[in-house]
Amino acid sequence: MAEILAVGEAMGRALALLDGGDVVAIPTETVYGLAGDATNGIGVARIFEAKGRPRFNPLIAHVADMAMADRIALFDPLSRKLALAFWPGPLTLVLPQRAGNGIHPLVTAGLDTIALRMPRGFGGDLIARLGRPLAAPSANSSGKISATTAQAVAADLGARIKLVVDGGATPVGLESTILKAEGEHLRLLRPGGIAAEEIEAAIGMELLRGGAAGVEAPGMLASHYAPGAGVRLNARSIGAGEALLAFGGERAEGWRGAAAFLNLSPSGDLREAASNLFAYMQDLDRSGARTIVVEPIPLDGLGEAINDRLSRAAAPRDNTQPTT
Ligand code: TXA
Ligand code: MG
Repeated sequence: MAEILAVGEAMGRALALLDGGDVVAIPTETVYGLAGDATNGIGVARIFEAKGRPRFNPLIAHVADMAMADRIALFDPLSRKLALAFWPGPLTLVLPQRAGNGIHPLVTAGLDTIALRMPRGFGGDLIARLGRPLAAPSANSSGKISATTAQAVAADLGARIKLVVDGGATPVGLESTILKAEGEHLRLLRPGGIAAEEIEAAIGMELLRGGAAGVEAPGMLASHYAPGAGVRLNARSIGAGEALLAFGGERAEGWRGAAAFLNLSPSGDLREAASNLFAYMQDLDRSGARTIVVEPIPLDGLGEAINDRLSRAAAPRDNTQPTT
């Protein structure tokens, strides 16, 4: 079983494992990541192996500072502006790779672009100490809900990895927002921890949405973040034996009969709801209810990313290959 060490005592062990081409689960401000040295093919392969993840999915490379980012990728002016405004933070930028950047091709699944992010806290410190970027998808088995606590990581991946660094519950609770420059514009590839409106305000223009060529961010595949239970969204009523994931002050009809009940944010705060989302889905799933019924959640601000993750959790799972 994986060892769980608090951030204050984990640095040495984490560095030794990463240096030896092994993987380590680390806290970031968004969700826990399963990190490996992005320049070491064995380390990157171990990430895919531990997650049971299809190999064609490219990973995010995490950097410690702008100098490291500039060695890896080519920034257009708009992307640089966003990096300066939002890094470190829950923003990922897809950029053209710089030739000879040392990133193992397994990280990018052979693409000539790379997804880059500068995380806050322990992850950033670890990368600076290692001196090399870390590839890190969310620390969960392929297709499962992302882990927002060290305990959730250990319960899922504990038998397959050696170390989980415990930084407590992740503050944001949703994966990063992924953007890609397209000429003079930016496309939202995945809604996430920074609301689209906040980015639009920073750049003074609207983001392009949908219609990206192919499945560019396979986090975009339909069935994803799937709990064991079925999921029913935008529910105004609930049947006996179903579990209720509530939001705000107004209850779905029949809620008193719920098999299990959790409220993402009694006050209707979308930030609080985002930070609770994955852990509450897991808790309700563990209740054994056949269905998790979810009350309507507004689409503005972080509500876009919350509804995105919920609709993937609710998507039919047959004949859809789960991804990250
Ligand atoms: O908050 C996060 O982003 C977390 C933490 C650990 O940093 N990481 C995370 O990674 O969510 P992952 O691997 O679960 O999701 C990465 C997403 C995938 O949907 C992947 O397809 C997309 O980024 N991606 C990676 N490289 C890409 C590229 N070159 N072009 C387009 N999409 C890319
Ligand atoms: Mg993931």
